[in-house]
Amino acid sequence: MRTGVIGAGYVGLTTAACLAELGHDVVCCDVDEARLERIRHGNLPMHEPELPELVARHMATGALRFQSSVSACAAESEVVFVTVGTPSLPNGDIDLRQVAAACESFARSLGHGTVVAIKSTVSAGTCQKMRELIARRSRGLAFSVASNPEFLREGSAVADFMRPDRIVIGAEDPRTSAVLRQVYRPLERRGVPFLVTTTINAELVKHAANAMLALKIGFINEVADLCEAVGGDVRDVARGIGLDSRIGGSFLMAGPGFGGSCFPKDTRAYAATGRRCGAVQDIVEMLIRRNDQRTAQLARRVIEAGRIPPRGRVGILGLAFKAGTDDIRESASLAIIRELKSRGIGIRAHDPQAIDNARRLMSAEELVDSPYEAARGADALIVATEWPDYASLDPARIARSMKGAAVFDFRNVLPWKVGEMHGLRLARIGVGTRHDADKVIESGANRLDDGRAAAPM
Ligand code: NAD
Ligand code: UGA
Repeated sequence: MRTGVIGAGYVGLTTAACLAELGHDVVCCDVDEARLERIRHGNLPMHEPELPELVARHMATGALRFQSSVSACAAESEVVFVTVGTPSLPNGDIDLRQVAAACESFARSLGHGTVVAIKSTVSAGTCQKMRELIARRSRGLAFSVASNPEFLREGSAVADFMRPDRIVIGAEDPRTSAVLRQVYRPLERRGVPFLVTTTINAELVKHAANAMLALKIGFINEVADLCEAVGGDVRDVARGIGLDSRIGGSFLMAGPGFGGSCFPKDTRAYAATGRRCGAVQDIVEMLIRRNDQRTAQLARRVIEAGRIPPRGRVGILGLAFKAGTDDIRESASLAIIRELKSRGIGIRAHDPQAIDNARRLMSAEELVDSPYEAARGADALIVATEWPDYASLDPARIARSMKGAAVFDFRNVLPWKVGEMHGLRLARIGVGTRHDADKVIESGANRLDDGRAAAPM
């Protein structure tokens, strides 16, 4: 089929390359002409495994083309996928300006019967709004607007697109859902489940799915706090919980809080929809607050338990919001850094992929090329992103490099054992000690003044 993809970001570029892989003719467009030019020269705007090869292969066959005219892209397509950004407004709701601008620019050039599929993550009711917006400009043309939410993760975008858990299609008429089913026929043949429903339901599936996943993370992070307070180990507790097939083991890794361009923004938008429509989502409202507070609490823990002197320095390992990506949007690592800096603490940070993106926010002196360089002269060291490389760090070399001795592993990646620490004091997330348990049993105390369980070192 002839398909158009509006937007050449994480979702747009992955969608475009994967649609070509599924056998479609694809034209991908973006308002950022410089971005398109870099992509045409094989210089992709993000670090994403498998994507450069897929883009190159399908550009070479001619199945995938790039162009800057949004209206021309839509004019030659039977199905137009909208994948532009949907950032947060100050009240948490979604800023629909990019989606509306995209629909406005192609409204007059759609062909008869074109299906517009909104892949950007949007609040319930957006497809209806875009239907009305296009209808006002398209002078009686037959077209439809469907919801086709995307569930890929950064760092495994191609694999997630090609082997999804499900495909969700929200449509208001059988022809539209049939056209979209046709696009994904190769995946349906491989057994991928389909949900065909209304546009409102499809929009809600996307927001509620992200809220549910974020809730699992928020929950396990609170379990981690409890483990620290009573001398437990969240890694075993998570394993034990996750083996219950009704709960499932994924998204139960305790850490510094969820970040990225999606969970924070999408939970805010979901909660804002609830407030706006009189169905307040208390659980998610609380989750957002707890996640926002977590990084500041962890920074305080580093300063107190790490005994950081005034104007001291902390080494940071990892800036990306998770491993496998160079994306630093709403990264927990950056939130911890902001909190430390606001208290006069100096920073030396390393990341294997995200340094270029971090340059926009941090000075050249704060960014270093190796983890050992980040540790050099530091009063404390934090592992903030779970890059596999950090698991093989040599504790002896870290100990020699650092001025202080406190290492905070907020991702539980360091495999160091007691007796191999070379004088370092390692604190893992959600891992308490026998000593902490005894303190709790004896005094019933071990609390910080804000009522949260105190963080043992
Ligand atoms: P992005 O910022 O990486 O890319 C968006 C692209 O759209 C940019 O290249 C921008 O120049 C382009 N654009 C903006 N306005 C345009 C217009 N009017 N016409 C044409 N192009 C325009 O964003 P992203 O991370 O790919 O996310 C896009 C959407 O998909 C968001 O709604 C997001 O919530 C959702 N989503 C993202 C992911 C993810 O992992 N990043 C996964 C699932 C869903
Ligand atoms: C997430 C969802 O997983 C995708 O399904 C969805 O399509 C996407 O958002 C979106 O809507 O845009 P992504 O943001 O790429 O994907 O990353 P995740 O792997 O979900 O991680 C999000 C955050 O949660 C990261 O900060 C990560 O470190 C954290 N996390 C994740 C944990 O702290 N613990 C876990 O067990 C899992």
